Amino acid sequence: MVSQQTIDIVKSTAPVLKKQGKEITSRMYEIMFANYPEVKSQFNMSAQADGSQPAKLATAVYSYATHIDDLPSLKSMVEKIAHRHVQTHVQPEQYPIVGECMLQAMQDVLGEDATPEVIDAWKEAYQVLAEIFIHREHEIYEEEGVS
Ligand code: HEM
Repeated sequence: MVSQQTIDIVKSTAPVLKKQGKEITSRMYEIMFANYPEVKSQFNMSAQADGSQPAKLATAVYSYATHIDDLPSLKSMVEKIAHRHVQTHVQPEQYPIVGECMLQAMQDVLGEDATPEVIDAWKEAYQVLAEIFIHREHEIYEEEGVS
């Protein structure tokens, strides 16, 4: 469970995520594909080019920021994303890559607004969300007998 301080800081970033979320996630993919080109093959690159995948990720991050203190309400979102992740063979060890690139993207886009407190809070919050996905995806891989 995340600390109350982290919840408060993450929630306080919701307005800026609403406004600049897609800019952040577009930058996140730019960094990830440059630094970890091997992940490209898992993605539909036309959904990158037309901006639909960065938009989906931005919506998910915003939903998480606004519901971080009410995780059960995110169940249907998590379920849909987890199934898509299993279809595209996402692995637990890839979560730190997305986390690192996401924090870098927040820094790049938000500049001074990405204070050390904001970055620390998002680091902790991302970890919690990553664990939720890893756990659910593990169950789906087991059900499908492909893990
Ligand atoms: C907490 C972290 C993450 C969040 C919030 C997230 C969110 C999302 C969302 C919203 C979608 C779109 C689902 C849909 O089409 O309905 C998606 C798809 C996808 N995600 Fe993630 N994701 C995360 C971590 C990861 C990681 C670690 C990887 C591994 C590289 C990854 C790879 C993918 C891929 C390959 C797709 C399918 C994209 C496509 O169809 O082109 N995601 N994710």
